[in-house]
Amino acid sequence: MTVIRAENLHKYFGPIRALQGVTVEIPEGLTLILGPNGGGKSTFMKVALGLYKPTKGRVELLGKDPWRHPEARKNVGVAFDPGRFPKMTTGREWLEFIARGRGAGTDDIEDIARLFGIHDALDRRIDGYSSGMLKRLSLAQAFIGKPELIFLDEPLANLDFESVAEIVKIVDRWKESGKSFVIISHIWEPFEKLADYGVVISGGKVYLAGPFEDISGEVEKFFRPPSLTGG
Ligand SMILES: Nc1ncnc2c1ncn2[C@@H]1O[C@H](COP(=O)(O)OP(=O)(O)O)[C@@H](O)[C@H]1O
Ligand SMILES: [Mg+2]
Repeated sequence: MTVIRAENLHKYFGPIRALQGVTVEIPEGLTLILGPNGGGKSTFMKVALGLYKPTKGRVELLGKDPWRHPEARKNVGVAFDPGRFPKMTTGREWLEFIARGRGAGTDDIEDIARLFGIHDALDRRIDGYSSGMLKRLSLAQAFIGKPELIFLDEPLANLDFESVAEIVKIVDRWKESGKSFVIISHIWEPFEKLADYGVVISGGKVYLAGPFEDISGEVEKFFRPPSLTGG
């Protein structure tokens, strides 16, 4: 099954050409989207979610045009980077809001909060959360309602070494249970073993795409210029 299909996808913000003809088919499983800052990764995610209207070209999310059929998003969880939250609300109120927006029940909020280590903070106001806790809250929101597809934009940013291992383990376990992931990360090594497919987006275009094991060598080269490897 294909989770995202894009064909000649363009997205401009005024004079800024964030996406300039992205054609890609992302299969189920775990896909890593990599590339330099400002390359268009987050824009691609938002267009694929139907949050931005494409300037040109087509995109399908789980087989539907997400702009015309926002219900395609019902079974999709998202963690944005940076996460944005209404500061006056509590973590629990925020996660309830997310669950309702997705038409999901609120019965798994406690479990998911415990999974991400923010259970004790659920009834505190978000403006008292540390940056690590905000990251955990944004990750938790993507898992609420156990969606079949989960987008994580820079899930490892602002996390310490142990937390990184913990988050990767959660993703691994959910992947094993049959969930699909699209993960945008410039810290990709921890996810390398879990990745089925990889897409490098640079300058608003797909620079490289394919089964991760086939492209991992190229990915290495892309991120480590020969002049720096000392070889
Ligand atoms: N909402 C927006 N309005 C204007 N420009 C934007 C917007 N979102 C992204 N951009 C621009 O589009 C380009 C791609 O950004 P982005 O998709 O965030 O890249 P990445 O996630 O790969 O770092 C950048 O030049 C960025 O400044
Ligand atoms: Mg980004």
